[in-house]
Amino acid sequence: METVLSGIRSTGHLHLGNYFGALRNYIKMQDEYNCFFFIADLHSLTTHPHPADFHAGVKTILCEYLASGLDPQKSAIFVQSDVPEVSELYVLLNMIAYKGELERTASFKEKVRKQEDNVNAGLLTYPVLMAADILIHRAHKVPVGKDQEQHLEMARVLARRFNNMYGTDVFPEPQAFNFGSDLVKVPGLDGSGKMGKSEGNGVYLIDDEKTIHKKVMKAVTDSGPTEPNSKMPDSIENIFTLLKIVSTPDTVAHFTEAYNNCSIRYGDLKKQLAADICKHTLPIRERIEEIYNDEAYLHNVAKRGRELARESASATLREVRAVVGFKSF
Ligand code: TRP
Repeated sequence: METVLSGIRSTGHLHLGNYFGALRNYIKMQDEYNCFFFIADLHSLTTHPHPADFHAGVKTILCEYLASGLDPQKSAIFVQSDVPEVSELYVLLNMIAYKGELERTASFKEKVRKQEDNVNAGLLTYPVLMAADILIHRAHKVPVGKDQEQHLEMARVLARRFNNMYGTDVFPEPQAFNFGSDLVKVPGLDGSGKMGKSEGNGVYLIDDEKTIHKKVMKAVTDSGPTEPNSKMPDSIENIFTLLKIVSTPDTVAHFTEAYNNCSIRYGDLKKQLAADICKHTLPIRERIEEIYNDEAYLHNVAKRGRELARESASATLREVRAVVGFKSF
């Protein structure tokens, strides 16, 4: 069985984009692959979070992952810093990662521009740590968004370089997981691009009914079509895309027809959209709260995840250490 691995940074909350774009696919993948899902808390340290916020961030994502349907009986769900083998592989990979290639990655250049007062070495070697995450479990497939493709390429480069340098095939080259027609692109509510954490255009799984209604009612629209069957501007098209994701085909057909014959009232459309989003997210929100308060359950999930991940990681590291030439006296 092939191994799939995915990591998420431990900052913020999961939004509809995460849920419909990735998590719903992960839930299905759990039956077909050997899955590793982890929370990349070491990566989050590049921004120097306060220790109290740091743990809260990890707990939040863990609860939201579990409430969304990731199943600790099927997958290894774990916290990156619980697996010290990753940090050791990171050190070893740093020896074959070159400063020039790291400086050229788009994400590093962007950080240099955005946070010039904190350009730490962890930011520079961010892709090396990510490669260690992937290679330590010898993952074959990694589902990544556009913004992470270059990092995945770096993982392939480092795997290849390591294998060539030591004449081994210890690391398979990880490929992007292609969702194909299952890929759902979830737009934001601001009429621009996709829903994102930093864009402030998202609906979160933890949002309550009132918040969801408020956000949806504020979504960008225009004054409405004046000609029958006219082309939708991006902002309206985005609302219809969201409707297609959360509503029934009948509902979508109803509002499409209303748009096409110019009788549409955006207020009604948004009310329906908000109600249908709530249908999906409110049960998850309840689960999040339950799990958040169940310390014993969280303890057991993290323990089992840690055990599975360390078993896989230590087997790889044992081989890697031998290949590099470590020998005990
Ligand atoms: N860098 C990824 C992100 O920002 C998170 C991540 C860390 C990751 N390690 C990973 C994703 C390994 C996939 C595989 O989204």
